Amino acid sequence: MIDQETFRRAMGCFATGVTVITVDYEGTVQGMTANAFSSVSLDPLLVLVCVDQKARTHAHLHARKRFGINVLSEQQRAISEHYAQPDRDPSRAEQAAGARFDRTPHGTPVLQGALAYLECRLQSAQDAGDHTIFIAEVEDVVVRSGKPLLYFQAEYRAIGSELK
Ligand SMILES: Cc1cc2nc3c(=O)[nH]c(=O)nc-3n(C[C@H](O)[C@H](O)[C@H](O)COP(=O)(O)O)c2cc1C
Repeated sequence: MIDQETFRRAMGCFATGVTVITVDYEGTVQGMTANAFSSVSLDPLLVLVCVDQKARTHAHLHARKRFGINVLSEQQRAISEHYAQPDRDPSRAEQAAGARFDRTPHGTPVLQGALAYLECRLQSAQDAGDHTIFIAEVEDVVVRSGKPLLYFQAEYRAIGSELK
């Protein structure tokens, strides 16, 4: 029997980028740090994100059915930390972590300075254990230049040089 800690350590070997999922909830910006994010399909354009059923964001995604995925740059570690804290104050995101948002025409919050932004419309939600796999159609993207924030073995990292 594999315990959760060993599973976490194995998954921690899989280096990822870091995203903040943003969703409008009654006019306020709700965000959540997530790295269980993946491309799914090119035709149609689909992505997935896995969200803990206990997370507040879980209810917001079901309610709003539209959200943004913001791929963090290496300057945005404080924003990742902020949106991973369970007891954060959403009205203090700018003072606490420097997070500022624009809105898309659909009203979805877009994090300023993120490396990439994907505007997502929920297509399906599949419960899987204690998480739900949200699959969404990508309706718009913004891509900026810069370097990503990385996550590896429970630590934030910066990208190294290209292997030749
Ligand atoms: C680097 C990192 C990646 C994370 N990835 C996920 C994820 O993919 N899915 C998830 O449900 N929680 C993930 N979390 C935990 C959530 O960010 C955290 O539980 C958050 O407080 C949930 O916020 P909410 O309850 O307001 O939705 C991650 C945390 C960190 C630090």
